[in-house]
Amino acid sequence: MIDLEQNLAGALRRKIQEGTARVAVIGLGYVGLPLAMGFARRGFAVEGLEDNAEKVRLLSEGFDYIDGHHDELKPLVAERLHAGRDFSVLETCDAIIICVPTPLTRNREPDISYVQDVSQRIGQHIRPGTLVVLESTTYPGTTEEVVRPALEAAGRVRQAGEDYFLAFSPERVDPGNPNYNTYNTIKVVGGLTPTCGDLTALLYSRMLDRPDLVKRATSTRAAEMEKLFENIFRSVNIALVNELAILCREMGLDVWEIIELASTKPYGFMPFHPGPGIGGHCIPLDPFYLTWKAREFDHQTRFIELAGEINTRMPYHVVSLVVEALGEKGLKGARVLVLGVAYKKDVADPRESPSLRVLEILRNRGARVDYHDPLIPTFRCHSGTEMQSVDLANLEDYDCVVLATDHSTYDLAEIAARSRRLVDTRGVTRGLESLKGITRLGAPNQDGKAR
Ligand SMILES: NC(=O)c1ccc[n+]([C@@H]2O[C@H](COP(=O)([O-])OP(=O)(O)OC[C@H]3O[C@@H](n4cnc5c(N)ncnc54)[C@H](O)[C@@H]3O)[C@@H](O)[C@H]2O)c1
Repeated sequence: MIDLEQNLAGALRRKIQEGTARVAVIGLGYVGLPLAMGFARRGFAVEGLEDNAEKVRLLSEGFDYIDGHHDELKPLVAERLHAGRDFSVLETCDAIIICVPTPLTRNREPDISYVQDVSQRIGQHIRPGTLVVLESTTYPGTTEEVVRPALEAAGRVRQAGEDYFLAFSPERVDPGNPNYNTYNTIKVVGGLTPTCGDLTALLYSRMLDRPDLVKRATSTRAAEMEKLFENIFRSVNIALVNELAILCREMGLDVWEIIELASTKPYGFMPFHPGPGIGGHCIPLDPFYLTWKAREFDHQTRFIELAGEINTRMPYHVVSLVVEALGEKGLKGARVLVLGVAYKKDVADPRESPSLRVLEILRNRGARVDYHDPLIPTFRCHSGTEMQSVDLANLEDYDCVVLATDHSTYDLAEIAARSRRLVDTRGVTRGLESLKGITRLGAPNQDGKAR
């Protein structure tokens, strides 16, 4: 068996080093598409497998529906990046990377059905000697307990680490980040065996801007856990500063000033900022993957639960600020404009966005709500209603404007000057205190008094 492993690993190593390994990326979304482009950029032939027929069509035309890098994508598609839906192409591939969604079920438990389904389908086409890497964020143990048996079920491969190779390597893409991307961010790699880890590290070192951007974990579980820790760390710290923001307002203090002051400490402090809640595909969901797994060990992840509780209440706090701003006028029948439905600035992604929650609560309480987002022209509310972004020309007509997402293209001074009442949930109106009618989350009322 050791000879078999060494022969297969040696053959794959050579192909990766020579750039002749064929790489498959399954799930061409925010994570998978930049990764597929990264390998193709380095000269690897890439097979992208994507369930969504429209995405396959767009990709085949060289349309980058994630980052808009059409000019970069077009030549790659013409030469070596192929998108399709037929899993039998995997029979020609040497490395297979899984980037499918890992959402929560209605009961807020891990839904790993995508990972399971795709792993089974890979198992029906995999060849001995292939490397399989899971990138989807998930609980510790998934690669070994879910992916591995599914890959081996069809009998085409028998034993991970012997006749094929298996690893977990989390993605760290931060949409909208101008400095860090898939290619220049350190990539953690955890193999099921040392050889699995070696091969995965070698593969990614060829895709990354520099070969030393790979950091080895001792196991797939360690890599799975560290990814969850990254996201839990953010969730907990955001909850902490959200709680502080509410308290500061009550105490007549400005949390934004407090954060600025604390940030002057050159060690042991890292700033997080309050806001209307947390959104996106990761921070609101991933921590609960660990909560679920921890139960198996009779352990309750109290920090995660508490952070979830505080962050989930933030949209309600924002609505209470709107009510306060409206004063005697009250919410019923009031015209409210929500600025920004993306979950964070400068991205066109409304998934799990707290703005949507703010919008819904306002509506349920009788307000007449519109939204504007320069990057999201239409979206569907949870209730199923389709909404369209309105023009900013009529800003003055609204009783209250809620700045939920601080997109860079917003002219804040102009918005503040033209709004009758403005609720700023992102702290971006600091310095505009001379203007009347601004309520800033985490800051005292304009009279400056504690309440
Ligand atoms: N988006 C982020 O910022 C980010 C960051 C780090 C990690 N992650 C993790 O990466 C994983 C993927 O996230 P994403 O944001 O890219 O999701 P996404 O929804 O943008 O992309 C996933 C893609 O997989 C496709 N897909 C689903 N089932 C499939 C199947 N059976 N066969 C082929 N394709 C299939 C979907 O159509 C979709 O295009 C998740 O586990 C997520 O938690 C995401």
